[in-house]
Order: sequence, then C-alpha cells, then structure tokens
Amino acid sequence: MGKFSGSDALWLLYLLAIVVSLFVRPTLGIRFRQANQESTHRHMNRPLKAAVFALGSFWRSEAAFGCLPGVVRTIVGYAGGTKNNPEYRNLGDHAECVQIEYDPTVISFKQLLDVFWASHDPRQLFGQGPDVGNQYRSIILTNGTLEARLAAASKEREQTISKSSIVMTQIQQLGTFYPAESDHQKFELKRNRLLLQLIGNMPEEELQRSSLATKLNGYAAELCPPKIQKKINAKIDDILKTGWPILRDI
Ligand SMILES: *[C@@H]1O[C@H](CO)[C@@H](O)[C@H](O)[C@H]1NC(C)=O
Repeated sequence: MGKFSGSDALWLLYLLAIVVSLFVRPTLGIRFRQANQESTHRHMNRPLKAAVFALGSFWRSEAAFGCLPGVVRTIVGYAGGTKNNPEYRNLGDHAECVQIEYDPTVISFKQLLDVFWASHDPRQLFGQGPDVGNQYRSIILTNGTLEARLAAASKEREQTISKSSIVMTQIQQLGTFYPAESDHQKFELKRNRLLLQLIGNMPEEELQRSSLATKLNGYAAELCPPKIQKKINAKIDDILKTGWPILRDI
C-alpha cells in the first residue's frame, strides 16, 4: 500500500485544475453563445426592414422601440443633416436618431409611427423637455414614396388631435445614417449591471447586435409595453430565485 505524500496531493490538485479548466469554462462559453444565437436565429430567414426616427435624446428613443414585438434590433446614430462623419460633441446639423430593424410581418411601419407619436411631444420647438437644441428635433426619415405618404398622413392625423399648437415634426428622405459611438448604444441597459450580468456580460459588438439586449434596453428604461414589462420582471425574479444567473430569452 503506497503512502499518500504531499506531492501526490499536488498532482491531484493539478489534475483537478485541468478538469475544471477543460470542462467548466467551455461549458459556460457554449451556454452564452447559444443564448445569443437563439434570439438572432429566429429572424434569420425573414427579410427585415429599417426605419429611422428622431424624437429627442437617442438614449430614450432607442429604449422606446426596443421592446416592441417584431423589433429585432436598434442602433442609435445621427441623420437628418449634411455634415460628414458627425460625432456626439460635433454633430453639426444632424439630429439624434434611432434606427429600428424590424420584421414587417410582425410590426408595420404604420405601427412604428404610432409609437413614434406616443413617445415624445412633437409640438415642442427646439428640443424635448430638458434636452434643448436642434439635435433633439422631431423627424421621420423616410425611405421611398410609400413611407413618405404614410408619414405625411400620420402627421396630419396628429395635427387634428389639437389645433392650438403646430406639430413641428419634419418629414425627410433618409440620407446617410451614421451610427453613434458605442458609449451611446444600449445606454439604458449599460446603466444596469444586474441585467448585463444576466445576459452573460456580452462583448460590445455582440451587445449591439443582440435582440435580447435590444429588448432589455427598453425594459431597463421601463419603456416596454406594460404586459411585457411585467413578463420580464417575473422572469428575472424566477432566475434570481433559482440562482442560475443566465437570461436566454424573453
Ligand atoms: C430602402 O428601401 C429599399 C427597398 O425596400 C431597401 O432595399 C433599402 O435597403 C432601404 N434603404 C435603407 C437605408 O433602409
């Protein structure tokens, strides 16, 4: 019978470390990748459309659309002006915008317009609330004559709601959309460390493409439709109770 020596114990620890590094880390890695693939897979074979709106601070604009069924992802950026390569501190005549990629078989451009009107005050001149300036103006950026017609009709409808003030919203043909710096993408979600952890601390590029992150960005700002806001609340409560801290889908 051999004696159990100190060096045997070291070997055992060494073997244990190898087993842990081979088994546990890749398993977690696969789980995270699977979680994110699921949300993109579902939309992979359907042609998506894109809509661009300006309605005040783009942090809030992005959150206002992220949670809607049919919205696949959102990106904030600059459009509506003429300056080349605008930046946050130097955006020239552009407005803060959100680009919404959506599945037109689930949500229509018209429905997006309804959310656009409901999510800001289009009668405010030169800004929204505390955000004062030309970069916060209200614009519907259209692609093609059909969208331009729908936009014009919905603006007319909005104007008939009250005649005592003028709807300031501009309707423009979409030119170049310049994505904003990464600090501004999913801004509301990034302020919530718990939610970031729940989705596995995605790297920045993945976060910007993720449908799940798009939804949770709306949730973090409490701008999801009430039913969805509640559903996500319940899901997160469940996860925290069971202690398996990964949110794959909502
Ligand atoms: C505008 O619409 C056309 C046709 O639907 C599409 O191919 C194109 O990608 C759109 N452009 C933008 C900037 O969304």
